[in-house]
This record gives sequence, C-alpha cells and structure tokens, in this order.
Amino acid sequence: MNKTLTAKILTATAENIKTAAHALQSGEVVGMPTETVYGLAGNALNPESLAKIYAAKERPTFDPLIVHVSQDALSGGVSSLHKMGLVDIQALSDLARARIETLIKTYWPGPLTLVLPKLPGVPDLATAGLPSVAVRMPKHPVAQALLKESGLSLAAPSANRFGRISPTKAEHVFEELGDRIGYILDGGSCEIGVESTVLSIAKDGTPSLLRPGQISRPELEALLGTQVGTGVSGEKQGAAIAMGQVAAPGPGMLESHYAPTKPLYLLTRSLAALSHSPEALTEDPVLKEALSKNPSRIGVLLMLGNPQTAQTTFSKWTKASVEAMSLSTSGDLAEIAKNLFSRLRELDHSNADILIAEPCESVEGLGHAISDRIRRASAKRAEAR
Ligand code: TXA
Ligand code: MG
Repeated sequence: MNKTLTAKILTATAENIKTAAHALQSGEVVGMPTETVYGLAGNALNPESLAKIYAAKERPTFDPLIVHVSQDALSGGVSSLHKMGLVDIQALSDLARARIETLIKTYWPGPLTLVLPKLPGVPDLATAGLPSVAVRMPKHPVAQALLKESGLSLAAPSANRFGRISPTKAEHVFEELGDRIGYILDGGSCEIGVESTVLSIAKDGTPSLLRPGQISRPELEALLGTQVGTGVSGEKQGAAIAMGQVAAPGPGMLESHYAPTKPLYLLTRSLAALSHSPEALTEDPVLKEALSKNPSRIGVLLMLGNPQTAQTTFSKWTKASVEAMSLSTSGDLAEIAKNLFSRLRELDHSNADILIAEPCESVEGLGHAISDRIRRASAKRAEAR
C-alpha cells in the first residue's frame, strides 16, 4: 500500500517554530526534537489533541503520555507544576516535596521524567486514567523554544508508530508518521538516543524506577540518600485499568517495544566470545535458532568494534551473507545509546532476512537502558504467540 507522505520537515528557524506553535495552539500535533528521542507533541490539556496523538501513533489508550513543560517553570519548582494545572502538590508529604525539589534542581531541564499525583484537570487520555501524571522538562533548545512560543504544556510520546523503533532524526519521524501529521521540526540527531529515565515519587515520597534511562538508579539513590525500588510501568497499570483491573495484560503484550519489522535475535554473549568457542552454536541457543531459519542474508548489530569481523565469524557457522553495523568504536555507552535506534532502523531497511544483535555487556547506568531497549526490541510480539 502506498501512503502519501505529506508532512513537512521544517528547519528550526524562529519563523518555523511559530508555525509549529500555531499548529499546536489550534489542536494539531507536531513532531518535536528532544535530547532523548523525537516526540509527537500535542496540547496536554486538550483531549482532542491527545486523541490525535493516539490515532497517529496507533497507540492503545491504556499507555499514558509524558507531559513536557517549559523551562520557565523551573524557578517555581514543584509549585509551578501545580500552577500549570498538572501536579497536585497538596497530596504530597513534606518528604515527597523535598525529594521532588531536589530532583528538579539537579536534573531539569534534562532526561528525567517524574510521575507525580495529578490534578483533576489533566485529561484521562494523558494519564490513561491513572491518578498520576508524568512530567518532564526537555533540554533540547528547539523543544524549549516550541514550549515557550506555544505557551502550552505538550504531551509527547516518542514519534514512532506503537511498538516500533524510536526516532532519533527528523527523517525517522517522517518515515513513521509522514502520512499522518503536518509538521516535523528538525533539531538534528538526538544527543542521548534513548528515552528519559521515568521515576515515580509516591505521595509519601517513595521513589520507584519505572523505565531506565541515562540517569541511572545508583545516581538517583546517591542523590536522594535512599533506595530506589522498581515500579510497575504506566502501560501495565493503564492496561489493568482498561481491563477492569481483572485480567492482567497478556504475556508479551507490553514486552515487545522498539521493534524492527524483521525478526531480531538477541545473542546471549558477544560475538567475540562466541567466535572463540568451538561450541558456540550449542552454547548460544539463540544463535542456533536464528541460523535454523536458513537465512540467506543476515543483518548483524555489534556493540563495538569493526563490523567486518562479523562476516569472518559468521562464515564459520553459515553460508549466509552478512551485513554488519557497529554501535561504537570503543564500547563507550553514550556512543552506543546515541546510535542504537538509528542503526537498528538502518539494518531493518537492509535486505537482510533476519537481524542478530549482540547483548550490551554492561547493565549499569546507561547500560541498563540499552539492555532494556534491545531486549524489548527482540521480544516476541504478542500476535506471534
Ligand atoms: O525521552 C522521553 O521520555 C520521550 C521524549 C519524546 O520526551 N518520550 C517518551 O514517551 O518516551 P513514551 O510515550 O514513548 O513513553 C512514556 C512512558 C509510558 O509508556 C509509561 O511507561 C510512562 O512513560 N508513563 C507515563 N505516564 C505515566 C504514569 N502516570 N504512571 C506511570 N508511568 C507513566
Ligand atoms: Mg515510546
């Protein structure tokens, strides 16, 4: 099926930011760069705009959105979030309030999303009916300019179709949503490349990590001087509400995310480790399963090193041709995160039959976020079960 790609990619000039801001004020949705990934922005307090976000992304409404706020709110800390009609500060204990103020002072603007008790005026569509709202102050100057120019708080999920690879360039947004939105502001390649850390602060101040990102759990624990637990993600909670809190969402239903269209197999060990192992195929059942499909072309995603080595290694196991890409030259996690989604997207566009990825060997800090994204990208999809 041919789709008509009518979206305009706009260079982020002052005039174009005005054009995008007007579109937002009149209820439209706009592709917006942030320092993590590109978002699909709409007026957070207008249910019609929110409905357009869900429709464009084909996103189920049980998956809540993140509300982006302007840097102007920084001076007032958490009370500014109350004035903006978002956060119920009366519901917060003194400890919760103090923790939120510390987090805001330390990390905003930046890649930290806080899930906080919401005010009644926040539309249910933004929060999937949950009693909390996710708020973030992006650092990207174009996102900030758009927030300021529009005077709105902007709900913005990642600007990909639901479950697909997140966009880190304006062209990726065009590929994903070019047939269904008007404008995409071009802010260049996203600096971080994986989505923000999502941290919930309960009314009593208890912190829980809902999604790993650049800002890591140990860093948050050191700052808050307390342990940070693991919470249930917003989409799981929202799904439970949508199902009348009776049935749990089906297995795998929410696990698959950030997924390429081709099957992606995640190795249990690095290619270097496997290449030294005579029993590689039995030691790594995933490799065995992938090669049992008799692919004639394989796309390989390496965490580090020279992609040419992949061809040599694979020639021991298969006659298939190999197109490999590497995420970094040195194993630097920031470099891996920045390249992850765009290289995965490139391999997905190649003529490979299947994709095989190395695991991220580090699970600390950004390594936790990278491992989380690549694991979900390789998770079997619900419909395939
Ligand atoms: O870096 C980012 O956060 C990007 C950019 C565009 O800012 N946005 C983003 O949005 O990743 P999205 O929609 O792809 O992810 C939002 C996630 C939800 O899936 C959910 O897990 C969590 O944030 N979330 C949102 N509201 C929540 C709530 N009230 N309670 C718990 N989790 C929530
Ligand atoms: Mg997303």
